[in-house]
Amino acid sequence: MIYEEEGGLSDILKEKSPLDEENNLSLRPKKLSEYIGQDKIVETLKIAIEAALQRKEPLDHILFNGPPGLGKTTLAHIIASEMGTKIITSSGPALEKGGDLMGILTHMEKGDVFFIDEIHRIPKIVEEFLYPAMEDFAVDFIFDKGVHARTHRYRLEPFTLIGATTRAGLLSSPLRERFGITRDLDFYVEKDLVRIVKRSAAILEVAIEQEGAFEIARRARGTPRVANRLLKRVRDYAQVRAQGRITKAVAVEALALEGIDEHGLGETDRKLLGTIILNYKGGPVGIEALASTLQIESDVLLDVIEPYLLKSGFVIRTSQGRKASEKAYALLDIPLGGEPGLFDRSKSKRRP
Ligand code: ADE
Repeated sequence: MIYEEEGGLSDILKEKSPLDEENNLSLRPKKLSEYIGQDKIVETLKIAIEAALQRKEPLDHILFNGPPGLGKTTLAHIIASEMGTKIITSSGPALEKGGDLMGILTHMEKGDVFFIDEIHRIPKIVEEFLYPAMEDFAVDFIFDKGVHARTHRYRLEPFTLIGATTRAGLLSSPLRERFGITRDLDFYVEKDLVRIVKRSAAILEVAIEQEGAFEIARRARGTPRVANRLLKRVRDYAQVRAQGRITKAVAVEALALEGIDEHGLGETDRKLLGTIILNYKGGPVGIEALASTLQIESDVLLDVIEPYLLKSGFVIRTSQGRKASEKAYALLDIPLGGEPGLFDRSKSKRRP
């Protein structure tokens, strides 16, 4: 059995457990009824889950697409829990060889959820093993090479694959087409983020006023993970400086101290906007050039930093590259013609 020779399962199962991630786990909703926002997606998942349970069948394979922190992993865990099954998690880059995948698939029980994060980064050779697994619940073991090659088809228990990606466009079409349900997660509206912040504050047992929750929510870049992270920083500040209560003033002060402005933008965002304006005359500038000037990996720029800047209209994407919008010039107090003055906001404020 060539696929079971190397590496234990534990090597390739994804361990997402730095302390922050563990803390976040407790803030994550465990049931669809606790999930706030993404109403349409939640509604269609409820229907799909109920139908599958009634038929006593596993759920169709599901692909979640969208920027980080919007709840793709959370939804995968909730789905497994609502289906009453186990979840086995891995990620595209962790699945290096066909054998890695085989090891997981052949150990799965009926109805289990197999969650692959960053599925767009799965190596091509591994991806090809996924096709029969997804379509026929079978894997083909290959023995020997060349003219002596023989294959043996191994039946799998029916399972549900849930893939998460920040870039569905990078998935090959054969893989994309094998998902029965595909959902794009979008940034959360402020109203939902306020509810998420208040729910998390209740779990963390910290007192919060409506306006305090609102100040955190509107700086959260449309992203629950960011909202929860900011809440924890504000909680620290409130505990040490304000008798533990999160009011509007406490939230504003704490987040200013973190370098986060009222749009939720931080140093990196302002540096990016300033670079487009000052180094590239407002753009357009190609993503690779921008990444190398900023000394940030282009994937991080594309997947993590840029989506919210595009969504909130500070950056415009054109066929020639990225441009800074008028809103970006206004944010940095740079006149539309552009003028070196860089990121010292206190100085630039004094300009006429
Ligand atoms: N915590 C993080 N994301 C959440 C969500 N969508 N609903 C409720 N709590 C959350």
